[in-house]
Amino acid sequence: MYLAALRLQHFRNYQELDLTFSPGLNIVYGENAQGKTNLLEAIYFLATGKSHRTSRDQELIRQGHSELRVEARVVRQTGELTLALRYGLDTRKSLRINGIPEKRIASLVGKLAVVFFSPDDLQLIKGAPAGRRRFLDIELSQVSPTYLHHLQVYLRALQQRNALLRQAAERGLSPGLLETWDEQIVHAGAEILLRRQAAVRRLGALAADYHRRLSSGREELTLRYLSTVGDLPEALSQEALAAVRDRFRERLERLRREEMARGTTLVGPHRDDLLFHINGQEARLYASQGQQRTAVLALKLAEIQFMREIIGEAPVLLLDDVMSELDPGRRNYLLQAVETGVQTFISCTDAADLMIRRWPAEYRLFRVQSGQVF
Ligand SMILES: Nc1ncnc2c1ncn2[C@@H]1O[C@H](COP(=O)(O)OP(=O)(O)O)[C@@H](O)[C@H]1O
Ligand SMILES: [Mg+2]
Repeated sequence: MYLAALRLQHFRNYQELDLTFSPGLNIVYGENAQGKTNLLEAIYFLATGKSHRTSRDQELIRQGHSELRVEARVVRQTGELTLALRYGLDTRKSLRINGIPEKRIASLVGKLAVVFFSPDDLQLIKGAPAGRRRFLDIELSQVSPTYLHHLQVYLRALQQRNALLRQAAERGLSPGLLETWDEQIVHAGAEILLRRQAAVRRLGALAADYHRRLSSGREELTLRYLSTVGDLPEALSQEALAAVRDRFRERLERLRREEMARGTTLVGPHRDDLLFHINGQEARLYASQGQQRTAVLALKLAEIQFMREIIGEAPVLLLDDVMSELDPGRRNYLLQAVETGVQTFISCTDAADLMIRRWPAEYRLFRVQSGQVF
């Protein structure tokens, strides 16, 4: 799939913008603080309904304005699609797909699939578990509306359950009240857990392959999903779901007192982690900068392939300022993606960062200056 056209209104430092793109490589260049990341952020926003760098949507609206619009034309194997997202200071987000209003913003997710890679991702391995969970959630939501549904149910129930637990911690509570929320998080949670587990196995195999090649066969990367609920069955089946639900319930029962004392839910997908090992050693603790870079690059390449396998076409690759962080060998490796039919957006300040083996046949250059694109 590829993004054929994008229109922005009052998004970050853009007043109005109307662009068409190459289905191959799109290079967005310019000095710092001109709007390069903002442009990629707008694409990400349209893909996921969220920004990759803030959870406060208000920040996305151009200062002095009260509403933003992002519109795109996406070309997919199944045909063309127009997406239009509006968001205002006093209005909730509203979405139209092919001109037809959608009730749920969640319908947006997966229409334009993206893989985003920025220097912040280099923190993925060493950073907090929340970043790795978010990585899995975004990846899975983009390829599976079912996953996103279970995730939303889970997060809502978790909020309610935590509110009750806080009450319990403050002024006591009869445990019976918790049970409806327990059942909801157990049901949605089991779905999330088994889907994450399966995704990590496949992503892990793909990433290990890329990592091996990027390290000339010297390093073995392994990914493992580590759940607070305990060991998980490998495959997603009704029996496996039932088994995970039982284990989850058991864990909740055992922790009831502690949860009521601490006022929060202590087990479940929202407490889990994704572990990276390189040559058997935990990467979070022992990997060098170079090894982390290689592992994250391998993971991003694996993401592209993983999504392609599931949705049957390649996602769009967004590379924000990462080229300067990589050596020429790794840059070329990343740019091979373009040759395998992945539409790619690259932002950079210095054209020298783009010293690449050869330019793909299809490319366009965009110079960004003070919220204008030339
Ligand atoms: N809501 C907003 N309204 C107006 N300008 C904004 C808004 N948010 C960010 N900016 C401006 O956008 C610029 C940063 O753009 P960015 O895309 O991050 O730069 P870069 O080209 O370095 O990637 C800054 O000048 C910042 O002030
Ligand atoms: Mg930037």
